[in-house]
Amino acid sequence: KRIVVLISGRGSNMAALIEAAREADYPAEIVGVISDQPDAAGLKAAESFHIATRAIPRRDHASKQAHDAAIDAALRKMGADIVCLAGYMRLLTPGFVDKWLGRMINIHPSLLPMFKGLDTHKRALDAGLRVHGCTVHFVTRDMDDGPVVAQAAVPVLTNDTEERLTARVLKAEHKLYPLALALVASGKARMEAGRTVFEGVDH
Ligand code: GRF
Repeated sequence: KRIVVLISGRGSNMAALIEAAREADYPAEIVGVISDQPDAAGLKAAESFHIATRAIPRRDHASKQAHDAAIDAALRKMGADIVCLAGYMRLLTPGFVDKWLGRMINIHPSLLPMFKGLDTHKRALDAGLRVHGCTVHFVTRDMDDGPVVAQAAVPVLTNDTEERLTARVLKAEHKLYPLALALVASGKARMEAGRTVFEGVDH
């Protein structure tokens, strides 16, 4: 399967996917990276892995729809089968989401459905939780709302800081995203009638 990753920033999850996909038995190949931010650090990182990159800024397009249409055209040109959102900081339009439904996944730094949106680590600390984590889910029209593919929990330590908790979750994200993409790319996890159906996964 051919994968294109959408980013807006640092791209550490993107890099984790690229590194995992270099393994011979990995069921997917990262063929491109697209960023809405031309100066995203992740674009440089992708180039250093010799992966095709495109910057598609919102300001070059008259509307959100036109912006997403340009991204869709770039994805098709790159021959994408599956799209991975990895720190892509824009909400995609319904028309775009519908085109990639079941073929687009996102990573979110919380145990969904808790803490959709931003500032998840601070919110987990403020709520006094003792576990927190990350989720990979299929992308549907609503933000951080689609069916779950995989989750990883991390402990919240006593006297934890937002910074340490963020780092602990990010480390888990870098393991979880390659695992989840492998499930989707191999067809072992697929979206059906708004649910994730697993096949040949016994845990
Ligand atoms: C990650 O924590 C991801 O879950 C969230 O934004 C962050 C992106 O980090 N959506 P990176 O760009 O992958 O390093």
